[in-house]
Amino acid sequence: MNIRPLQPGEAERVIAAGLGLARLPRGDGSFYLVAWEADEPLGHAHLSLTDPPELQDVAVLPVHRRRGVATALTRAAEREAAARGHSILTITVSVDNEAAQALYRSLGYRDSGRPPQRVRGTVQIRSGPLEVDDTLLTWQRDVSST
Ligand SMILES: CC(C)(COP(=O)(O)OP(=O)(O)OC[C@H]1O[C@@H](n2cnc3c(N)ncnc32)[C@H](O)[C@@H]1OP(=O)(O)O)[C@@H](O)C(=O)NCCC(=O)NCCS
Repeated sequence: MNIRPLQPGEAERVIAAGLGLARLPRGDGSFYLVAWEADEPLGHAHLSLTDPPELQDVAVLPVHRRRGVATALTRAAEREAAARGHSILTITVSVDNEAAQALYRSLGYRDSGRPPQRVRGTVQIRSGPLEVDDTLLTWQRDVSST
C-alpha cells in the first residue's frame, strides 16, 4: 500500500472507484491523502490545515476494510501535521459511529474536552447539498513525537 497526497488529475479515478472526495475543492492548503495499491485507490482522508489541524472524511472502500488502510491513512496524516509543526491532530466522530470510534481509540485518540456538537441542516459537499443531523464528538492525539 502506498499513501500520497492526491495529485492533480487523479480525482476522477478516485471518485470512479467509489470514494467521495466530498471536501474537494478547498484551495486553502488542505489536501487529501489517498491510499493506493498499484493503480487502485483503496481509501482517502482529508487533512484540514486549521490550528490545530483536523483529520476529516476518512473513508475506505468496503472491500478493503479491516486491512489497516484507515490506520495507515491516519498515521500518514499525523506525520504531515507533525512535519508542519503541529503537536495535536483532532478528529470529529459521530456518537453513533462505533467502527470509527473503535478505530481512533485503537490509534490513541481521546476526548478533547470540547462539548459534543449538534450539527443539523444542509452542508455543501462536492457532489451537492447534503442533509445532516448528527452529534459529533471531538477527539485528539498528541502527534509531536510522531
Ligand atoms: C471506519 C473506517 C474508516 C475503518 O477503516 P478500515 O481501513 O477498515 O480500518 P482499519 O483496518 O485500519 O482498522 C483498525 C482498527 O480499528 C477498529 N475497527 C475498524 N473498523 C471496525 C469495525 N467495523 N468494527 C469494530 N472495530 C473496527 C479495529 O480495532 C481495527 O483493528 P482490527 O481490524 O485489527 O480489529 C471504515 O469502516 C469506513 O470507511 N467507514 C465508513 C466511513 C466512516 O465511517 N469514516 C469515519 C468518519 S469519522
